[in-house]
Amino acid sequence: MPTSVSDRTGYWDRYAEGRSDHQASREEALKGAFGWTQYPGHGPGDEILGHPATTLELGCGRGDAVAALAARGVAATGLDLSPVHYARARERWRDLPCAQFVHGDAMDYLTQTDKEWDAVYSIWGAVWFTDPGELLPRVHDRLAPGGRLVFAHAPAVPGAYGVQGMYGGGFTGRQVWIYRWAYEPDTWSSILADHGFTDIHARVEPAPEPGLLGTLIVQSRKSRPHRMDDLTSSKV
Ligand SMILES: C[S@@+](CC[C@H](N)C(=O)[O-])C[C@H]1O[C@@H](n2cnc3c(N)ncnc32)[C@H](O)[C@@H]1O
Repeated sequence: MPTSVSDRTGYWDRYAEGRSDHQASREEALKGAFGWTQYPGHGPGDEILGHPATTLELGCGRGDAVAALAARGVAATGLDLSPVHYARARERWRDLPCAQFVHGDAMDYLTQTDKEWDAVYSIWGAVWFTDPGELLPRVHDRLAPGGRLVFAHAPAVPGAYGVQGMYGGGFTGRQVWIYRWAYEPDTWSSILADHGFTDIHARVEPAPEPGLLGTLIVQSRKSRPHRMDDLTSSKV
């Protein structure tokens, strides 16, 4: 099965071009900018990242969540594959000294960088669109000890798990497709544990109204190495 995606960059650029929310004022964009669910003002906020000094968002789009963290002093980096999204985010938030934007693919970037972050997160972003078997070791490697990986996207369609293919140009448009990965919360917990993550909490956050689609939210950590005195006392 091919794991590459046809014209991913073009797909995400067209997605970025189609969004009108980049026209919102900066004040509006920052208000409630940090949310995990598709319902504005609903669900947890950035508290589930803990108290990071450094963060990396994988697939940051227009960069509002990065800006919200940077505005309160977090050294916040946003990475995005789409040149359109990257350019807009950079232009819009260029006066925030703690915000940094990078153009690139999540796998490539994490493989090449030697930086570490206290929290890596993805809001309906690159984690959804990258094979977890390839991505999770890279994220684990670049997290500081005790650092958190948190991500959110749509819950799996019941019975449809693993890689999902989607035509991005409609059925009469250009031959473009992308892949997403979908699992139930329990399966996400096992996948993360298999990749060395701990303190895993995977769930579907209910929608604000009964009957509407909820949001998959997954929290996890990279464990801290044991201190020598912990090891000594455990032998007694
Ligand atoms: C659905 S949008 C979400 C954007 C933003 N997080 C938000 O909540 O508005 C998905 C974003 O992920 C980016 N993306 C998808 N795959 C990526 C990858 N492999 N590496 C980096 N960014 C990626 C896309 O360019 C797009 O901006």
